[in-house]
Amino acid sequence: MQAIEIIPPGLLTMAQRPVPIAKSGEILIRVAAAGVNRPDLLQRIGKYPPPPGITDIPGLEVAGVDVVTGNRVCALLAGGGYAEYAVAPVGQCLSIPPNLSMVEAAALPETVFTVWNNVFVRGKLQPGETLLVHGGSSGIGTIAIQMAKALGARVIITAGSDEKCAACLALGADLVINYKTHDFVAEIAREGGVDIILDMVGGDYVPRNLECLKLDGRHVSIASLNGSKVNVDIRTIMQKRIIMTGSTLRPRPLHEKEMLTRGIEEHIWPHIARGTIKPLVHTTFPLAEAQKAHDLLESGDLAGKIVLTTDFTE
Ligand SMILES: NC(=O)c1ccc[n+]([C@@H]2O[C@H](COP(=O)([O-])OP(=O)(O)OC[C@H]3O[C@@H](n4cnc5c(N)ncnc54)[C@H](OP(=O)(O)O)[C@@H]3O)[C@@H](O)[C@H]2O)c1
Repeated sequence: MQAIEIIPPGLLTMAQRPVPIAKSGEILIRVAAAGVNRPDLLQRIGKYPPPPGITDIPGLEVAGVDVVTGNRVCALLAGGGYAEYAVAPVGQCLSIPPNLSMVEAAALPETVFTVWNNVFVRGKLQPGETLLVHGGSSGIGTIAIQMAKALGARVIITAGSDEKCAACLALGADLVINYKTHDFVAEIAREGGVDIILDMVGGDYVPRNLECLKLDGRHVSIASLNGSKVNVDIRTIMQKRIIMTGSTLRPRPLHEKEMLTRGIEEHIWPHIARGTIKPLVHTTFPLAEAQKAHDLLESGDLAGKIVLTTDFTE
């Protein structure tokens, strides 16, 4: 099969690889589309190696057809998505509702699992509460807005341009803050604070985030784009009874990912099947142009997801 390989120190190129073999509890997927995520950029430059036993082919999510049953599925992967075939544990697969294209379905698993796990399972977002999402126009942010709105929360986002803010408003965000022109701490103070923050920025954002949280607020870290070392006053944590948490998805064991799959099937997938949650796909590239896809994601000049497509169509 054709697959994308990483050539150190950080180039993507097409290569021939054997079709992977599905073990017990796995399915072999003929891949139609594969989502591109920021963690893939880190893997390309050697900063996010695959967990032990996982293929070195990048790619954390695919949509395609189960070669045995012919069913349309999308899957969360620990690697191997940038290829014409991929194997996935059955417990990390979701069937694709008829209203979704393969490209749309491929844009979902990594972000939906991450947001479900962090905002709903760890952060325990409740209907009526307010969620602040930094990086609102990111792949993660654009799905977080829709998932939180679908389950009855209020959503505030920050983004780095008016265009990105407009894209988030169109997805249902209640309030958007261009952090380059406005101080998000002051804007959130005017709103009376937020209950949960989904943070991918880290660094100097963390003490500012704590200022934004209400009593019993939750601070959930999923990345540290501006640095992982932070300086916070723990008296703020005590006085506001703040819970600070976070997680990484890729190394989680299968049974934990299966639990997430079940929660998503029950609470999120019906909204996806109804079209009330729809991935924002910025653009697609053929698999052979994976490097161009990475260059675009790295530039930050987009809102939503980039998806790679293979020659396979149903
Ligand atoms: N923990 C987990 O399980 C998990 C899983 C998946 C992804 N992630 C992480 O979540 C983040 C979002 O992933 P994604 O695939 O949605 O990424 P993405 O689409 O590339 O979005 C990254 C966003 O971060 C914002 N940003 C803020 N500060 C930045 C900086 N210093 N450098 C670059 N971007 C910056 C950008 O928005 P502005 O232009 O508006 O600033 C951009 O929208 C990534 O950091 C990724 O590694 C974590």
